[in-house]
Amino acid sequence: MIPKQEFARRRQLLMQTMEPGSIAIIASSQELVRSRDTHFMFRQDSDFHYLCGFPEPNAVIALIPGREHGEFVLFCNEKDPEQETWHGRRCGPEAACDLYSADDAFPIDDIDDILPGMMEGRQRIYYEMGKNNELDSRVMNWVNKIRSQVKKGAQPPGEFIDLRHALHELRLFKSAAEIKLMRKSAQIAVDAHLRAMRECRPGMTEWQIEAELHYEFARQGARSPAYSSIVASGNNACILHYTENSSKLRKDDLLLIDAGAEYEMYASDITRTFPVSGRFSNAQKELYQLVLKAQDAAIGSVKPGNHWMQPHEEAVKVLTEGMIELGLLKGGLDELIEQEAYKQYYMHKTGHWIGLDVHDVGDYSIEGQPRILEENMVLTVEPAIYIPEDDTSAPAKYRGIGIRIEDDVLVTKQGHEVLTSGVPKTIDEIESIMAKQKAA
Ligand code: GLY
Ligand code: MN
Ligand code: MN
Repeated sequence: MIPKQEFARRRQLLMQTMEPGSIAIIASSQELVRSRDTHFMFRQDSDFHYLCGFPEPNAVIALIPGREHGEFVLFCNEKDPEQETWHGRRCGPEAACDLYSADDAFPIDDIDDILPGMMEGRQRIYYEMGKNNELDSRVMNWVNKIRSQVKKGAQPPGEFIDLRHALHELRLFKSAAEIKLMRKSAQIAVDAHLRAMRECRPGMTEWQIEAELHYEFARQGARSPAYSSIVASGNNACILHYTENSSKLRKDDLLLIDAGAEYEMYASDITRTFPVSGRFSNAQKELYQLVLKAQDAAIGSVKPGNHWMQPHEEAVKVLTEGMIELGLLKGGLDELIEQEAYKQYYMHKTGHWIGLDVHDVGDYSIEGQPRILEENMVLTVEPAIYIPEDDTSAPAKYRGIGIRIEDDVLVTKQGHEVLTSGVPKTIDEIESIMAKQKAA
């Protein structure tokens, strides 16, 4: 759990980055219709959550540095016994001050009357423009309301500043409490992948493996995956975001599973690729060994002082060398890297930031240069090779094989720590685990 003091510290740090005479406005997520009058399971907006932890939809916070009656104002649904009987409990403004440390809390239905008064006299509005059209126009209406009062002496804000930059810079560096939650999210995903390896049998359908993953997530308190789980056997693994999960597992195929948990809002993101039968073929071994070598080299370069593209550059070098050796590419190493020839079989980058969002926020470059890694950043390392079955330029024995290996890596003071190392990834470990399970 993130303590209240930490939410308060985040708000303070954000307010310190704001120009004098400003106000920040941040909205919760809204409920989304899934089918007629039923909704998708609600998930709070990550930025809103980061600043206050308030878990309900239909809420707005304002941060107003220097405001005499308190800097943190919350608008939320009022308590309503009938609505709560049908749709679930509400905190209500009265309890919000105590539970979420708001200095003032008001019913959301009163926001049009109250918030413009708080914006009046402030020169700048920090806000996430373009995220929610309805809110964009409401914010403009509030400004216009103040503008209409100028003859009476009202001072409308004159400048909008995108809130994302400063807020996302804070989110990029994880606190001790966040790392604790990310470890838990990672451990749940590790257990889910182990369960999938244990349960995998030829003849099952991919969605049955998905069910095993989600059962383990939910059993441990991660009621949602961090993204749609990818359970891709055989040639399906060559579709990067395959989520149909509807093919039968064939005994000679590999199974690629890319699945992560969301625990108390924090994501994990693991990929493992293993043989449905428990034994790799020689061709599968050759490709697997190459991706694993690329991942080892890439993870080895995660340390403070290196830049964030270094793991990608390491992976590309190892993969391209291997592609030449295995007859997938022809030519010299340097020229093939220069021409990006490897993209025929490896077309994505080697990772991304991870945190409250699986593809987390934070700049990847500063003034055109790749960002330098620093302690307490967390990123994934996920090299891969994809050789579709209809790629006639590849040796026949490699066609229809997709392999990705992905771990979540914390940058530490001295180097790195792999948060998801609990799922085996060497060929020997995978074969021995699967053999034991078959025997049991
Ligand atoms: N599962 C999404 C990704 O690996 O980026
Ligand atoms: Mn990933
Ligand atoms: Mn992934």
